[in-house]
Formats: sequence, structure tokens, C-alpha cells
Amino acid sequence: MMFTAEMPTGRRLISLDRVESTNTEAMRLAAAGDAGGVWLVAGEQVKGRGRSGRIWTSVPGNLYASFMLRLACSPQTAQQLALLAGVAVVDAVRKVSDVGSDTLPALRLKWPNDVLIGSAKLCGILVESALNLGGPGLLAVIGVGLNVARAPEGLGLTATSLAAEGLHVDRGTMLTALAVSMDKVLSIWDEGAGFPELRVAWQERAGPIGEPLIVNSSLGPVRGCYSGLDQDGALLLADALGHQRRFTYGDVTLADGGSEQ
Ligand code: BTN
Repeated sequence: MMFTAEMPTGRRLISLDRVESTNTEAMRLAAAGDAGGVWLVAGEQVKGRGRSGRIWTSVPGNLYASFMLRLACSPQTAQQLALLAGVAVVDAVRKVSDVGSDTLPALRLKWPNDVLIGSAKLCGILVESALNLGGPGLLAVIGVGLNVARAPEGLGLTATSLAAEGLHVDRGTMLTALAVSMDKVLSIWDEGAGFPELRVAWQERAGPIGEPLIVNSSLGPVRGCYSGLDQDGALLLADALGHQRRFTYGDVTLADGGSEQ
């Protein structure tokens, strides 16, 4: 079912009933020459995509939205969008939960951009980009899948939803808040110039320094303790000898009971 939301000044909303994937739809729109600054949302997604080529199981009632924007920065700098988007989601959820962080004290980020409540996944983010697609420069799509109504079941993973945490909010209200918080982080970011501030914001919303993590990298699983982000947003992991390793890509599992979709 289609729904609507309020957009900040200068942003457009395209609300669709049923799509394969809102990210794919946003890419199509870009290829057709759209100027960007548009949110694409769908009531239903039949081929939702996750990170690392996974499927994003899209149960009815949850939020499936993609923000499409055109940038002048390099593709490498644009990778920071993945981190900013996580900050924007956390802030939007806190906003709709009225009394802020008190309602969902365990709301947190896991690198690069999973939003968790405790160790259960609430929201996944998929950022995709392309050069010179339907216009000059870099085109980016920030896709957000937020479990508003219910968590997908039977995937052998720990997931949760806002409703399961006692927060009953409609998708339109959630998207309205998300569009505002996304604009806020994007303007602070300023295509990379403001990343130091967002790096701090990301770390404030993430787990504690020293938390045991497993990074499933191309080299296989690497265990270590979370030691923050480096100046570019890469994950720093300290091994048992205290040596730091830097990861720019990989799926992270909380060693104490987390899971991954
Ligand atoms: C992840 O693997 O954690 C990322 C999941 C991203 C899912 C969202 S749902 C809206 C947008 N459209 C997609 O096909 N994927 C993203």
C-alpha cells in the first residue's frame, strides 16, 4: 500500500505501491536524468537487496526508502555516506520515540551502518553509487530498510522491529523524520569537509571501545576489539597483541551474540 510523508524544502517524494527494489528504482530515475534530491519509497518491495549481494527480505508494513542525490566529491569520499546514513537513522528513530534516547536506550550502530537494538538488527542500509549516470558527476543512492512493523522471521538471525520494542509509529512519520535527519547530516558532511564531526557522531552512537567483534573480511573471519574509526571512516580493530588493523570493507558480527543479515 502506498503512503505519504512530509519532505523538507527542496526535496521531492515519489511514493510507489510495489517495486523490485527502491534502490533499483532510484537508479532508473537517475539514468533518466533526474536532478536528484528525491526520496523514493515503496509500500512493497519484491526483490529487496542487502549488502554483499544478499537478499533483503521485505515483509509488508516496514519502511523501504531510497534517497537519490548527485555529488561533486570522489567515489572514495562518497563511501562516508554509509556512515552518515546510520547516524541519520538513529537520530530519526530517537526523534519519533518522543523522549529521545530514554525510550530505546540500546539503540546503536554497528560498523558500517547497521542499526541495532541491543544485538538485534532494526535497520539495514545499502549505499550504491555510479559515475555519470544520467548527468555529470557522482550519483549516490542511500537505501534504508527499517523494520517499523515487524522483523523478518526464519532467517536464522536476530532481528527486531520498532513495534516489537513498543514503539508504534507509522511509516510516513518515520520517513518524515528520516528525511529531516538525513538532510541535517548531509549538510554537516558538506561532501566530506565536515566528516570529522560526523565521525565523532557515529562513534557516539556505536558500541563501546573494546567491544569484541568479528570482521568477516575477504581474508576470512578476523577477531578483535573495536577501537573506533580512523579519519576516513575505516573500522579499527585491535588484535590480542594490541596491534591495530584497518578495514574498509567487511561484515561485522558482535562476538557476544550479534548476528548479520
Ligand atoms: C543490509 O544488508 O543490511 C542492507 C539492507 C538495505 C535494504 C534497503 S530496503 C530499501 C533499499 N532497497 C533495497 O533493495 N535495499 C535497500
